[in-house]
Amino acid sequence: MCGIVGYIGKREAYPILINGLKRLEYRGYDSAGVALFSDTIRTYKHRGKITDLEKYIYGKETNGVLGIGHTRWATHGVPNDVNAHPHTTETGDIVLVHNGIIENYATLKLFLEKKGHVFSSETDTEVLAHLIEEIRKEEKGDFPSIVQIALQKVSGAYAIAVLSLKDPGILVVAKKGSPLVVGVGEKELYVASDPYPLAEYTKRVIYLEDGEIAALFHDGRIEMRTSTYESKTPHIHVLDIELERLEKSGFEHFMQKEIHEQPRAVRDSLRGRLYSVEDALLNLGGIQSVQEKLFTAGRYTFLGCGTSWHAGLIGKKIFEDLLRISSHVEYASEFRYGNPIVGENEIFFGISQSGETADTLAAMQCAKEHGGTVVGICNVVGSSIARMADAGLYTHAGPEIGVASTKAFTTQIATLLLLGLYITQKRKIIDDKNIKKILRELSNIPEKIEKILTADDSIRDIAKKYKNAKNALYLGRGYGFPVALEGALKLKEISYIHAEGYPAAEMKHGPIALVDEYMPVVVIALEGPSYEKIMSNAEEIRARKGKIIAIVNEGDTRFQNVADDCIEIPKTEDLLSPLLSVIPLQLFAYHIAVLRGCDVDRPRNLAKSVTVE
Ligand code: G6P
Repeated sequence: MCGIVGYIGKREAYPILINGLKRLEYRGYDSAGVALFSDTIRTYKHRGKITDLEKYIYGKETNGVLGIGHTRWATHGVPNDVNAHPHTTETGDIVLVHNGIIENYATLKLFLEKKGHVFSSETDTEVLAHLIEEIRKEEKGDFPSIVQIALQKVSGAYAIAVLSLKDPGILVVAKKGSPLVVGVGEKELYVASDPYPLAEYTKRVIYLEDGEIAALFHDGRIEMRTSTYESKTPHIHVLDIELERLEKSGFEHFMQKEIHEQPRAVRDSLRGRLYSVEDALLNLGGIQSVQEKLFTAGRYTFLGCGTSWHAGLIGKKIFEDLLRISSHVEYASEFRYGNPIVGENEIFFGISQSGETADTLAAMQCAKEHGGTVVGICNVVGSSIARMADAGLYTHAGPEIGVASTKAFTTQIATLLLLGLYITQKRKIIDDKNIKKILRELSNIPEKIEKILTADDSIRDIAKKYKNAKNALYLGRGYGFPVALEGALKLKEISYIHAEGYPAAEMKHGPIALVDEYMPVVVIALEGPSYEKIMSNAEEIRARKGKIIAIVNEGDTRFQNVADDCIEIPKTEDLLSPLLSVIPLQLFAYHIAVLRGCDVDRPRNLAKSVTVE
């Protein structure tokens, strides 16, 4: 949520900042701005997307080998030019960008107003600029020390990059609760909210820890201090990101590309871990340090938000079906404030694509404080959740840029399946013969996803019929229910059609009142334990003139008389079925959104990485 960038070195900062902001745009896109330091600090900010900012800046002075930039997702104050970052003071001395929320901003603002500061925006961020300026009047010390003293007075979350007119050769960055990465080049340094914008300039990065502050200099020097003011030698990590993964590669949208990447993404999730199907050998290195706890746990709990929470619902079912041990799934935001009861020997899986979602991070911290063992299931390597967890598995989906999550979801499920099977095997709950059967089928899943993707055009034809719907219902049972929730979420996120996912039988307890001839109802009707029941639910919809789009197994003709449209997917094991049944729902939502002219990769009001609670 909000993206920040910075550059200090020998080159012109402006193109580097704009480039970085474009790569971070999925974190927020309601306004953007840059500040460039040459003879003075020039700040340009504008409502709208990065391209609007570029148009606004066109023809203006953009010199400077030091600069900062920001793309905003509004928290305090409407999206407009004034509330856009960077923010400054009346004197223009301090100029900064910020990601996070300053929770005590109202108190600080009152204090600063009494001191004579005049505010121009409605943001919490502006308070920080005034506070740093005020502290500089009262305290002695170099610029980074002044920033650090100011930050001690702040509660909430921040990642900031700060310039001062009085200190032309320094870029100061700091973080607490929001992510910040420094890229180390040849006598030049980069700053970004996540590593993706850095990948085209350098592979060497430093992840700041909470409370840390760093002063960056033109010659590439870094002075880093911990929260207790002690100097620290930065630890350099080497990035493993292929640049082409950050491009659309011929697709119209990132979301479309990411849907079509799923066979590769799921293969990458399984690679090396599904070691030998025939010998039922699994190799999950990332969890070795907590193996014994995993194998003896009395309870497994899944934490997440949004799509990752849906993956958690599937994880719970997989674990209960395989292990026959009580498992739970919690919204991270509810868990962290819910006075949780943490069982002895309880394992918590924090599921998160970004690894930065504030609620998931805090829920995991809370679980840890209550004595739980926390295991991260993340996509972004080196992310905060990955670093704070006791152990973890990366999902290896590759960078996911589209705001609506797709390949992150299927790779989360693949990873949870491996994990569930591994624990089941070690706990000797099912025999290797059955494990092999599931593993064999799991290894066929990427190919089956490829097959579903060939139906792209026919799914677009179906989407054309329903593109003007105002509401939609998604129904499923068993493993089909979380998939129904995910299908409904995809549709509402990117097409703005109101959509609900329901357990098919629950439909009779309310939603059926909404069904009429204008209501499309997507029914996940795969062969399995509840096939006949789902068929009856579909008949009930049809009797009320609802339009039915059924997801059925290949060759199943029984739904043809009930449904208006059928989308066929290959057969698989019940517990693997979400990996296939979600694909047509992603394509359906994608095509509807495109047909409605929506900005698929940047849906209104949303952001990909939600770093505020
Ligand atoms: C936002 C994104 C969703 C994502 C959710 C959780 O709402 O738009 O796509 O599912 O955050 O994000 P995480 O990175 O923790 O999976």
